[in-house]
Amino acid sequence: MIKEIVTYPNKILRTKSKDVEKFDSELHTLLDDMYDTMIAKDGVGLAAIQISVPLNVLLICIPDENNIQTPDNLLEAINPKITHKDDALIVYTEGCLSVPEFHEDIKRAQNVTVEYFDRNGQKHNMEAQDFLAVVWQHEMDHLEGHLFIEKLSLLKRKKFEKEWKKKLKEEKNKR
Ligand code: CO
Repeated sequence: MIKEIVTYPNKILRTKSKDVEKFDSELHTLLDDMYDTMIAKDGVGLAAIQISVPLNVLLICIPDENNIQTPDNLLEAINPKITHKDDALIVYTEGCLSVPEFHEDIKRAQNVTVEYFDRNGQKHNMEAQDFLAVVWQHEMDHLEGHLFIEKLSLLKRKKFEKEWKKKLKEEKNKR
């Protein structure tokens, strides 16, 4: 089922999510709803808090070489942790379903090692590079209650806040 995505500046997005304790049908429904929502909104990643569920659950689905997202490329991560980040950095133009239509360059680690559980409670480790590493770090930030716009320089952040307020006002007037 497609759920409503919480958008900035809703305070829900600042919640620190908690670990999942039961790998049960309720978790599976959450994962399925998150997938439907992410695909419907054309996202490559989604954290549970973005649909108002404060649990350490995230999805990543990088499009294939034909730019198509399939369940084959879906990564479901429960109680994930970044266990290693190396010093190499990469700049990538990021966006977020909770900050629609805004994109900006963000610097992050180029290589990360992560640990997570799948929907059946099986533990996995993986190394991620480049775009996948960026998405991992972006989604992990959501679980800590952080958004990528917090990484902007002061000047860029001010410009963003001004434009965002204007956009919200315009949307309100349209209704
Ligand atoms: Co996001």
